[in-house]
Amino acid sequence: MDVAIIMGSDSDWDVMKKAVELLKQFEINFEVTVASAHRTPYKVQEFVKSCDAQNVKIFIAAAGCAAHLAGVIASYTTKPVIGVPIASEPLKGWDSLLSTVQMPPGVPVATMAINGAKNAAIFAAQVIALSNADVKQKLDNYRKDMAAEVERKAEKIIG
Ligand code: RP5
Repeated sequence: MDVAIIMGSDSDWDVMKKAVELLKQFEINFEVTVASAHRTPYKVQEFVKSCDAQNVKIFIAAAGCAAHLAGVIASYTTKPVIGVPIASEPLKGWDSLLSTVQMPPGVPVATMAINGAKNAAIFAAQVIALSNADVKQKLDNYRKDMAAEVERKAEKIIG
């Protein structure tokens, strides 16, 4: 397994399924689970240790509210951790963004935009592509497709 995705709640799935769709598109092996830094801290610890034992290369952690999940995961592993702050009420993700990004020196979390699930998957793919030529090729193609899409949109407007 290359990527482990951990969500603080099943309510984060609507956002995080976009990351899963992209990982599938890049043919990257992954696992998804729900574990909460506050509600099930023991499960977070056990899951991260078991992922480390299975040579997971990178973690993606998504949580809303006072989102400590990514930081807690980063405290249990030296593998790279990508954080996705989830927009939740009443602060619309500002709380989760700051809780995820403002890590103390020594324990970093690569924090994406609020609800930035797609970029989390792309960033994970970029890390994996450092040692995987197939994934690198898929990322190059993805970039080319995006550029072509921009051109198509421009032509549609200009006519
Ligand atoms: C966080 O609290 C979760 O990641 C979720 O974004 C938020 C709300 O959780 P639920 O009350 O929907 O389970 O821990």
